[in-house]
Amino acid sequence: MTGSTQRSGYLLPAIAGATAAAGILTYLYRNEAICSTGKTDQKIARVGGDVPFFGDLFTALARLDTVQDFYADTFEKTGNATFVFKIPFSPNNYVFNNPEILEFVLKTHFSVFDKGTRSYDLMYDLLGNGIFNVDGEAWRTQRKLAANIFNVKNFKDHVDSVFVDQELAFSRAVELHIEASREFDVADLFYRLSFDTFAQIAFGVNMNSMLSHECIDIMKALDAVQKRIAHRFIDAFWRTTEYITGESKVHKREIQLIRDFVQAIIQKNRVSGVSENDLLSLLMKIDDQLGKVPSDDELIYYVLNFLIAGRESTAASLGWSVLLLSKYPRVLDSLLKEINSTSNGERPTYEQIKNGMPYAKAVMRETMRLYPPVPLNIKQANTDITLPDGTFVPKGASVSWSVYAMGRTEEIWGPDAKEYRPERWLEMNKQPSPYNYPVFQAGPRVCLGQQMAELQVVYMLVQFVRNFKFEVVDPDSVTYTYSLTLRMKNGLKVRCQPRI
Ligand code: HEM
Repeated sequence: MTGSTQRSGYLLPAIAGATAAAGILTYLYRNEAICSTGKTDQKIARVGGDVPFFGDLFTALARLDTVQDFYADTFEKTGNATFVFKIPFSPNNYVFNNPEILEFVLKTHFSVFDKGTRSYDLMYDLLGNGIFNVDGEAWRTQRKLAANIFNVKNFKDHVDSVFVDQELAFSRAVELHIEASREFDVADLFYRLSFDTFAQIAFGVNMNSMLSHECIDIMKALDAVQKRIAHRFIDAFWRTTEYITGESKVHKREIQLIRDFVQAIIQKNRVSGVSENDLLSLLMKIDDQLGKVPSDDELIYYVLNFLIAGRESTAASLGWSVLLLSKYPRVLDSLLKEINSTSNGERPTYEQIKNGMPYAKAVMRETMRLYPPVPLNIKQANTDITLPDGTFVPKGASVSWSVYAMGRTEEIWGPDAKEYRPERWLEMNKQPSPYNYPVFQAGPRVCLGQQMAELQVVYMLVQFVRNFKFEVVDPDSVTYTYSLTLRMKNGLKVRCQPRI
């Protein structure tokens, strides 16, 4: 046999094999970037590069750190047309910017749009079967249990005790920076504040991370793990990538560190006996009543879901609020006027925040409209379905929306949508529907901690502003980075002075 006949001998089976493989891939991934949309006759906007095979991958990579503005700009250009985003070997992602579609997804067709198997797989090592990550009965049970801790009596108790304790520690940490004439990263301090506040509410322990710096490794690990998980959403081969880059080892180590930390708290709780009203005790007790004692493994996941929910978003909200107050001295002045007229030089009480301080609440809501702590959300369709604008979404595909883009959309907020103007909240006859303002999401899975978070953000912000004059170093350079929450890319450097 000559070399060429030998080659053609291999060639035919190779072509046949490749054709078969292509056929199988085309069938398996018929709703994904390597092929066309699920319904070939569907006209749907394409806004990324739409490169053969790679779909919008290069656009996703190029705009990763500015993805929220990419979405906002795109919707402005296309007049809010739903578009499809395709990443190889990942389900098509139908991105919309419309409150009516959001209500369809989150409420009227709640049973069709799950967190889904994809999100579950990507987040499993961190969130396991915790409330954030599961659907169906597993979600319903945890939701019912956790709803017990988020009641009015507990909110009042938290403001009166935990918030005060933690704010005192926060103020002391700021004073130490002032005494040392140091610039410092107040965003980082807000993450510690919300970590300690959450730990005291949920576990009844004071972590003291603002003054002792003890939990720095845990916090660094939490940040790194979440950033890595966010990247998995655009990399279908994340397991391989993390293996090749060595990140899978680091990831495992970091997750273990976080889990050991929670495990130690659970162990302490088991030894000292179950206390009355913290979240951990509640999870332990109520599962007992169902006749099922949760293993430590389960408890760790449950607790971690709340830790992440409770820490990330309130801290992000405080950081962006401080940035915007420094950029808008007029708003800061109005806030200070309200503080002085309400609390008479004292720290605000639960009643004052709950029933008064409308301007402080407007500042918080306006900040989260433009800088939503959870900027992007995604669901997976468990059956073929057509959205109200006619977009066909095949089973297994994702739908997503950018809360950040929605907050800047003129059709929702009027011609001054991009302006920071807390007064708009005081001018409204009624508050916007959560489908227009989905900062805490909406429907049956609306954020469980919304009221507590709002109390916490207003209380901490008011105390910070009341106690300290602050100046942000280079405010125009502050921006966000790609993660599951809207984190500041390089923190928020400030210089402070006592105000009183
Ligand atoms: C400014 C602060 C906060 C914002 C903007 C916020 C926003 C959100 C959003 C957008 C979701 C839906 C996430 C998703 O399904 O992908 C959510 C869910 C949730 N949040 Fe919050 N959150 C905040 C604070 C808190 C706090 C302090 C807690 C309590 C520890 C909390 C507990 C939860 C829980 C348990 C869920 C899951 C609800 C479910 O799936 O049924 N959140 N939050």
